[in-house]
Amino acid sequence: MAGRIVLGTQFGDEGKGKITDYCAETANLIVRFQGGNNAGHTVKIGEEVYKFHLLPSGVLRREKLAVIGNGLVVDPTVLLKEVGELRNRGYEVDNLRISDRAHVIMPYHKIIDGLEEQLKGKMKAGTTMRGIGPCYTDKVGRWGIRIVDLIDRQVLKEKLDVIVPIKQRIIDAFGGSDRLDTEAIWEEYAGYGGEIKDFVVDASVLINDVLNKGEEVLFEGAQGTHLCIDFGIYPFGTSSDCTAGAALTGTGVGIGKIQDVVGVMKAYTSRVGTGPFPTELEDEIGEHLRDKGGEYGTTTGRPRRCGWLDSVMVRYSARINALTSLAVTKIDVLGGLDKIKVCTEYDFNGQILTEFPASMKVLSECKPRYKEFDGWEDHTDEEWTGIARHGYEALPEEMKTYLDFIEEEMGVPVGIISIGPARDQTITMD
Ligand code: GDP
Ligand code: IMO
Ligand code: MG
Repeated sequence: MAGRIVLGTQFGDEGKGKITDYCAETANLIVRFQGGNNAGHTVKIGEEVYKFHLLPSGVLRREKLAVIGNGLVVDPTVLLKEVGELRNRGYEVDNLRISDRAHVIMPYHKIIDGLEEQLKGKMKAGTTMRGIGPCYTDKVGRWGIRIVDLIDRQVLKEKLDVIVPIKQRIIDAFGGSDRLDTEAIWEEYAGYGGEIKDFVVDASVLINDVLNKGEEVLFEGAQGTHLCIDFGIYPFGTSSDCTAGAALTGTGVGIGKIQDVVGVMKAYTSRVGTGPFPTELEDEIGEHLRDKGGEYGTTTGRPRRCGWLDSVMVRYSARINALTSLAVTKIDVLGGLDKIKVCTEYDFNGQILTEFPASMKVLSECKPRYKEFDGWEDHTDEEWTGIARHGYEALPEEMKTYLDFIEEEMGVPVGIISIGPARDQTITMD
């Protein structure tokens, strides 16, 4: 019995897709536990690049089950598109399963997402406009449509007859011009129900069966701890719980089944969206990180804001998630910089803060206090692959110093070092 969680420790885009795919090698089942198609997870195998928004990154391991847990919000149009794209690339996708309790993103959620962003002024998060927030709002407000409703035409119709007129009133009140047609939505979404019904299962039963057989389950997180609805930069984060706790509630597994919590930490910080970001670099180093790290949103294509690593943020994630190890990614991107900085505490108008504040007003006035490290020389993609083959000892000495500091500062051992996007650009520590 071994459950292993992989989640983000920063603002998302830490490289969870790559690390999930890497760790999936030893797992029998991979399950995503929260979020929706706001995520963009990239997996590189050889020269092939796969970008997943909704499907678990583990779906590429054909012989393992890949599950969409109850904690997700599922846009069936995106689901079918991703399945279709994978089939075109030679995958049958017969290893996919979807929880009957996951919620469904409906067309009115996407409309309302756009309208809310317009109305929110300074409170807007810069959402991905995928209907994520309004769908989770409906889940909690008990207005939601679940996957199990989608595959029962009659239940779907009864719910839509109640919900759609209310959503129309909300759209009108928010100043929208869209007209909702209950019959048309019913036909379209009941059709999707028909197309996905063979994937639908009671996922908790399935996952617990695998765990009870003594096999390994990998729980794939989306977004990151600092986008979490409870622990993130509220209200600029996302609408789901992105922490280790959500791996349990988002799949139907109990706490005793979890053995490892792997925190994926990019060796610097990036953010796509609004809100305070203390270590943001709006200079040539920020440009360097964006260009060299390819820091453009996988989902929206927006340029990501980039900055130095912030250990106040990551220590907070280590505590909240009880991380058992860190997977440090994209450390190759720092190659070629003369000096590298890590923020270890904030200066809030003369007061030193070592804990991440809840107040966005306070956070926006925090100035980072840095420790400085020597950089290391840059390498080509091929050279990094060669270094990975030789393991930890072959890493540049200055990089080892940086990694030692990270381990000590975060209080969590480094288990995986990623020095490129591909599977073979990864080093596992003993
Ligand atoms: P996720 O949302 O956390 O899965 O991360 P994204 O896929 O949105 O963004 C991470 C990007 O960095 C992707 O383009 C990955 O292919 C790439 N990547 C992942 N790990 C590494 C690494 O160690 N080095 C480099 N250079 N790129 C990486
Ligand atoms: P992955 O899984 C980075 C951000 C959006 C926005 C805020 C709310 O690839 O790491 P939403 O559409 O969720 O209501 O948007 O959260 N955001 C992400 N940023 N990576 C992600 O996912 C994100 N998912 C949402 O940019 O600021
Ligand atoms: Mg991403």
